[in-house]
Amino acid sequence: MSTSRLKIEVARAALKYVEEGMVLGVGTGSTVNAFIDELAGAGIRLDGAVSSSEQTTARLEKIDVSIKELNHTGDLDLYIDGADEADDSKRLIKGGGGALTREKVIAGASRRFVCIVDESKRVKVLGEFPLPVEVIPMARSFVARQLRKLGGNPELREGFTTDNGNPILDVRGMDLVDPVEMESRINAIPGVVTCGLFAQRGADEVLVASESGIEKL
Ligand code: A5P
Repeated sequence: MSTSRLKIEVARAALKYVEEGMVLGVGTGSTVNAFIDELAGAGIRLDGAVSSSEQTTARLEKIDVSIKELNHTGDLDLYIDGADEADDSKRLIKGGGGALTREKVIAGASRRFVCIVDESKRVKVLGEFPLPVEVIPMARSFVARQLRKLGGNPELREGFTTDNGNPILDVRGMDLVDPVEMESRINAIPGVVTCGLFAQRGADEVLVASESGIEKL
């Protein structure tokens, strides 16, 4: 089965968590795009959605889902999002699409976070995928030096600005055996908006699509 077919399968599996009248948190990325397509065909009427990116907002608006501000909704019952890596403890690396900060805010504000991935995202230890770190522009070089002290090799994501107007450093070679601790250490560097480790608030469920079906972690 192709990766895009697996994304459709896992997107479809996520639909069973979605209830009529919900305000749904919606992540960003190609797996979420598949989920939005499935949602469009499912005929589930939402009260609205809180979106994690301009890209997701545009897709949701196309299928007539009304976009709500998190400042007005309070906490959400459900957040659906993809990931770049997921370990067995449902800790994640996210931010390959650059939406990590809004994604982390919505995950934090949601009672249930269902993460949808294909099997290529599943890892024993996080860190093969370069860890995205969103920084405010004037702190970019300073943060990069601090990340080097933590053992990483940061690289500026060229030609990219987040929806919040910030650059992203993609960090390779970081030891993420203890992702909870590393999330705190990176987020404590002045100038870091947030890093793409979702370890302190990981997913509540990870649905993994493979040839043999959908596995729930
Ligand atoms: C967006 O910033 C990311 O966190 C995505 O959730 C992640 O990159 C997964 O994207 P794909 O579904 O496109 O692999």
